[in-house]
Amino acid sequence: MASSTVWQCLVALSLFSSAAYGYGYGDGNGNDNGYGDGNGNSYGYGNGQLDPKFYEKSCPALGFIVRVSMIKAVLTERRMGASLLRLFFHDCFVQGCDGSILLDDVPATNFTGEKTAFPNVNSVRGFEVIDDIKRNVEYVCPGVVSCADILALAARGGTVLLGGPSWAVPLGRRDSTTASLDGGNSDLPGPTLNLTELIQSFANKSLSPRDLTALSGAHTIGFSQCVFFRDHIYNDTNIDPAFAADLRRSCPAPAGSGDTNLTPLDAQTRFVFDNAYYPNLVARRALLHSDQELFNGAAQDELVRQYSADSALFFADFVAAMIKMGNITPLTGSAGEIRRNCRVVNSS
Ligand code: HEM
Repeated sequence: MASSTVWQCLVALSLFSSAAYGYGYGDGNGNDNGYGDGNGNSYGYGNGQLDPKFYEKSCPALGFIVRVSMIKAVLTERRMGASLLRLFFHDCFVQGCDGSILLDDVPATNFTGEKTAFPNVNSVRGFEVIDDIKRNVEYVCPGVVSCADILALAARGGTVLLGGPSWAVPLGRRDSTTASLDGGNSDLPGPTLNLTELIQSFANKSLSPRDLTALSGAHTIGFSQCVFFRDHIYNDTNIDPAFAADLRRSCPAPAGSGDTNLTPLDAQTRFVFDNAYYPNLVARRALLHSDQELFNGAAQDELVRQYSADSALFFADFVAAMIKMGNITPLTGSAGEIRRNCRVVNSS
């Protein structure tokens, strides 16, 4: 099929889907009224300075452009919905949700961004999709919409397109002119952390243990490389032996061998944003050590059981926690800038 035909089909699909979503996903007028009642009432977008209607007048087509670009991206590769959700998390935990993770290193000026931080390097992905959305948005509303907001909308889009909940994304973030490699190395939680450390890492960002357990449910979609769960499947005891034996077939024991082999984080429904992650934990079938820590005989066990039994509760808590995470120290007002290209600061 010619690419223009593909594009036309996507636009038609997008129009259909916006009409079909029960509790909308923007109304095509720049109102991001995602998780309301279908009558334009949204709720639950927090107390910060951000506002789902921020671009209502300055870029009314924003919601539509992001939606079409995301449909194209996820149809091309379904994993991309997961990758963009994770990219937003990795942006917000380092300097706040300011698009800092999107900045490329610039050797000529000795600028080092966050892309080579240990949790990011050869791991976070989706930058080309953000570039594509930004290009389309700049074409219609030049110099208006921040890369940080585009990333927030893309994360929500990935969640929705894989079957998860929708919500009104508070907007109005501006883009950083700096990034922090050190912050990337220190502030992003790693898969070997125990529950106390995970709770502390989220508390450092003003997120509660409940937020931790709800947000970890993002691991209902996407994949992990063998290097991140090798210890768990060879050395941990809190794991279903049959599950561990199965995983060992595609993740060899010797360090350096098969490190990049991919395994779904949720073995049941890798491309569906549902609550299946939680029964996996109860069955001791978590892929990452850090995931199993949420169900390991301690305080989060009860909540994990509740999310296993009640997907509406999980969705509601996930949405609330995503909005909280999206409110981590944004740049607003005249702070920062609206980057023209998400990979470089404007002055360069
Ligand atoms: C609680 C602490 C967390 C730890 C230790 C953790 C760790 C990891 C690791 C090691 C991977 C695999 C990366 C790779 O193989 O390259 C991964 C993937 C992923 N993470 Fe997390 N994560 C955490 C929380 C979160 C949160 C809060 C979100 C989003 C709200 C999230 C969303 C994802 C997604 C969607 C993937 C799959 C990405 C893809 O397939 O491209 N994670 N995570």
